[in-house]
Amino acid sequence: MIRRFKKWLARHRRGENKILRFGIGVFDAVVQFLRVTWKLITNRDTRSIYYNKMFNSKNIHQTTSSTCLDRYPEIFAAARDYFLDKKPPRILSFGCSTGEEVVTLCRYFPNSEIVGAEINQNSLRICRSLTLGDRVRFIESTPENIAAQGPYDLIFCMAVLQRTPGTIQDKQIRDLKKIYPFEKFQQKVEELDGLLNKNGLLVIHMSQYDLPDTDLAPRYHPYGDWNQNYYGPYVFGPDSKIKTITGNRHSIFVKDC
Ligand SMILES: C[S@@+](CC[C@H](N)C(=O)[O-])C[C@H]1O[C@@H](n2cnc3c(N)ncnc32)[C@H](O)[C@@H]1O
Repeated sequence: MIRRFKKWLARHRRGENKILRFGIGVFDAVVQFLRVTWKLITNRDTRSIYYNKMFNSKNIHQTTSSTCLDRYPEIFAAARDYFLDKKPPRILSFGCSTGEEVVTLCRYFPNSEIVGAEINQNSLRICRSLTLGDRVRFIESTPENIAAQGPYDLIFCMAVLQRTPGTIQDKQIRDLKKIYPFEKFQQKVEELDGLLNKNGLLVIHMSQYDLPDTDLAPRYHPYGDWNQNYYGPYVFGPDSKIKTITGNRHSIFVKDC
């Protein structure tokens, strides 16, 4: 019955009958409204995401909080190897979501102090319920809080410096200016650069923009060949428009000066 109704809707959504099309449009809007309202009532993560979108839109980058343990083993291992002959790095996990990234980093860097910064209050609450010892601190992500814990030797920005890439791709949006402009990316990278020690590593992985396109490019060089070439969604350039990729999209950068 429901399947038949859905088929009927799909057939008439783009049909000839204007009145039917209008009616279905209203129906779709009501269903969407109810769906969002229900999620807002029942789901804390959704509430936090909507709160940030409405009241913290200047600061929020990626909105969704999907994460998992040891999500990028080759990148974490490469960063660990870089510091093998150096003192344990002070680490910032920028956009640590519900803490799995920090738990993972504790394993890769057993002697490091690690700061997890997160903007989503629900995720932060979950982070703070973890017992990871004194060397780990979870903070609300504001420039002031992050600066107060710095400087850092190693900064991870994993799947943070982007905005709903799957949807952007599905909707074939080729200009990010209104949704997530390049300037926002550059500003955050500059801010983090100011907190990173010389010879430290800045890791930008799973991002819609590239560090070499920013004004900071002359001060960094890629570490090894570690890259995000397998990033599936569209990638954008300094004009916030979709760009053609030539060469590697490096992920790990050494700060030269
Ligand atoms: C897709 S998750 C990535 C989590 C984790 N880094 C990973 O790769 O598994 C993106 C996270 O970035 C957070 N985020 C977005 N803007 C942020 C900001 N300005 N400061 C800190 N976290 C932010 C989101 O709340 C979300 O938890």
